[in-house]
Amino acid sequence: MSTKLTEEMNDEGDVRRAVAPHQRDFPYERGEEAHVTRREFCNFLALTSTALFVSAAGFAAQGALDSRGAETFVPAKIEGAEALAPGAALNFRYPTEDDTAILVRTADGQYHAYGQKCTHLACPVYYERQRQRLECPCHEGGFDVSTGNVLYGPPPRPLDQIVLEVRGAEVWAVGRKAGEHERSV
Ligand code: FES
Repeated sequence: MSTKLTEEMNDEGDVRRAVAPHQRDFPYERGEEAHVTRREFCNFLALTSTALFVSAAGFAAQGALDSRGAETFVPAKIEGAEALAPGAALNFRYPTEDDTAILVRTADGQYHAYGQKCTHLACPVYYERQRQRLECPCHEGGFDVSTGNVLYGPPPRPLDQIVLEVRGAEVWAVGRKAGEHERSV
């Protein structure tokens, strides 16, 4: 739902008016749930238990994959990074040729790098120099250039972070971490 939950919607009437279209589109019939049979309740419990078991197994498998993936990154020098001026950005590919990424050098001289795919629907983000943030042109998403966190728009999570190492004047990509934290706004 893209409806704004702000101070304009701080009483029940405002909230009900805002969600009315969604209630029409996705009606919820209370009468249908009034009488739940014992058999239906048991079926619900069995399905819930199965779903929890499958979810736990899925998390375990994902954890194993993630830890294995973290070990397979091959460090790669980012060509041109040493000549990057503060306030500028360049594109590179990491960890494979299919993975586009963006390196930004902020005004304080620090380097930050992210996978270039927006976490909403995978449009490429770019560095907006005036506002000093990463922006997605598809649906006006915005990300903090120092953290990758979502500033506004529909993206559900931060950008994937490219882990960097500065080796003398050179900048190397040494890993990639999924932007896992849910947005807080
Ligand atoms: S794809 Fe980036 S905001 Fe939708």
